[in-house]
Amino acid sequence: MTTQPVSRVALVSGGNRGLGLAVATRLAEQGMQVVLGVRDRLAGREAEEALGRKRLFVHSHELDVTDPASVARCIADVAAPLGRLDVLVNNAAVAVDRGQAAAAPDFERVRATLDTNLLGAWRLAAAAAQEMRKNGYGRIVNITSHLGSQSNMGTGNVSYRVSKAGLNALTQILAAELHGTGILVNAVSPGRMATRMAYGETDRTPEDAADTPVWLATLPDDGPTGGLFYERKPLDW
Ligand SMILES: NC(=O)c1ccc[n+]([C@@H]2O[C@H](COP(=O)([O-])OP(=O)(O)OC[C@H]3O[C@@H](n4cnc5c(N)ncnc54)[C@H](OP(=O)(O)O)[C@@H]3O)[C@@H](O)[C@H]2O)c1
Repeated sequence: MTTQPVSRVALVSGGNRGLGLAVATRLAEQGMQVVLGVRDRLAGREAEEALGRKRLFVHSHELDVTDPASVARCIADVAAPLGRLDVLVNNAAVAVDRGQAAAAPDFERVRATLDTNLLGAWRLAAAAAQEMRKNGYGRIVNITSHLGSQSNMGTGNVSYRVSKAGLNALTQILAAELHGTGILVNAVSPGRMATRMAYGETDRTPEDAADTPVWLATLPDDGPTGGLFYERKPLDW
């Protein structure tokens, strides 16, 4: 009797547009069962339909990473019927404090940024890791930014920078904690991409940037963990 190969199940937060949609598309092309985590149901349906026209069949599920109940519901609804959750791409983020100074902060923006980019990713990773442990397999890919690099820290975008520096630290801590469980945790900076977040100030497309996140989402068991990457290369953070 031959065993059927397992069809991996992947959840991509903020999967309705930008980098999330590009990564979700590539994972679906590789035969994964992909769920787009979306804040807006209509945007989720539109993304499903766009992929359906390419004969890629994905589902969307409501997910607001700032809401613990929404995170718990999404993880449970994905993992229970499909029996597994193998890949989490922690992609959802906001950038709402471009001109802000650290010495004169608007703490509402700081709170909103940290709640989405750091705590949201953390909530999702913790909930996903519990499911991944059940099958002894998991790949967690945190989407970070050069703006979070310690070796390149500067002014502007202060809470965004702090959120991504925190996400880098979280990546390394989770990777160490989960070592030996079959769950690999890495972070990748996609570089500046022409998405809504970057105000169209670059020619780099999300499709160009999807390569390294997809590589990290599909690592073999002896792949790296706790790494911070750009274009598949480890970065000095
Ligand atoms: N663009 C760049 O130049 C650049 C550079 C470095 C790193 N990055 C990182 O790359 C990732 C993707 O960014 P992008 O450029 O593709 O941005 P984007 O086009 O603005 O997309 C952001 C996604 O995150 C979702 N999102 C925001 N808050 C959320 C929440 N509370 N719960 C669930 N989803 C939420 C958005 O949903 P809605 O559609 O509902 O708003 C959207 O789907 C982010 O982690 C970003 O920090 C981007």
